[in-house]
Amino acid sequence: MTIPKIVILTGAGISAESGLSTFRAQNGLWEGHNVDDVATYEGYKRDPIAVHRFYNMLRNKLQDSNVRPNAAHYALAELERKLGSDNVLIVTQNVDNLHEKAGSKNIIHMHGELLKVRNEQTGQVIDWYNDIDYNQNKLIRPHIVWFGEIPLQMDEIYDALLHADYFISIGTSGNVYPAAGFVQIANQSGAKTVELNLEPSLGENSFHTKIYGPASQIVPKFFKQLVSEK
Ligand code: APR
Repeated sequence: MTIPKIVILTGAGISAESGLSTFRAQNGLWEGHNVDDVATYEGYKRDPIAVHRFYNMLRNKLQDSNVRPNAAHYALAELERKLGSDNVLIVTQNVDNLHEKAGSKNIIHMHGELLKVRNEQTGQVIDWYNDIDYNQNKLIRPHIVWFGEIPLQMDEIYDALLHADYFISIGTSGNVYPAAGFVQIANQSGAKTVELNLEPSLGENSFHTKIYGPASQIVPKFFKQLVSEK
């Protein structure tokens, strides 16, 4: 059996059934907030206390006991256990920790992580589970890639795309680059490209195979079939 190299891109849609909102559901507002206010460095400099309040709220919500991985997260962890971490890479745009909780190991958080903070002066990244109080500590910011900032670990991601046999995009609307362009690179590399989403994404036409429905249903089914074919 030849083990395929699989790169999986995930977006907010994979966590929707775990109780975390997607981004573009309500008129471009995130949880009722304007993106320019809470997801840009300029917004942070303008009103750091309000921005911390927003991420404190998201960090608390993520740690609510009702927020748990769903069948789609577990299916990806199971795939990695079966094929090995060298062959399965998750590149997630999500800042939640549901892939880790489900048991996946080989994960790149290209847009950062909600449960980490970064020291603005030293660049040091540390785990962080509590609220950030700006008045107590003005140097730490959420370890989140805001609009206008460069996503993380891009060299590793491009290298994986160049060597992928499969590129599978799950639960992402295809609105945000560079992630929205990964399918083109994978196509050029000769990978089979697959979209698993609730509805067609903006990049729909670039994928060889498309399956639409809730992630918790279509993702386990798709990978069960893929592994049984190998
Ligand atoms: N199952 C599968 N897909 C779903 C489900 C579900 N249960 N629910 C929603 N979706 C799909 C939607 O149809 C949509 O195409 O998930 C997608 C979510 O799209 P967005 O909200 O745009 O999220 P995402 O693509 O992850 O956003 C990318 O944008 O704002 C930035 O940094 C932020 O990482 C985020 C990036």
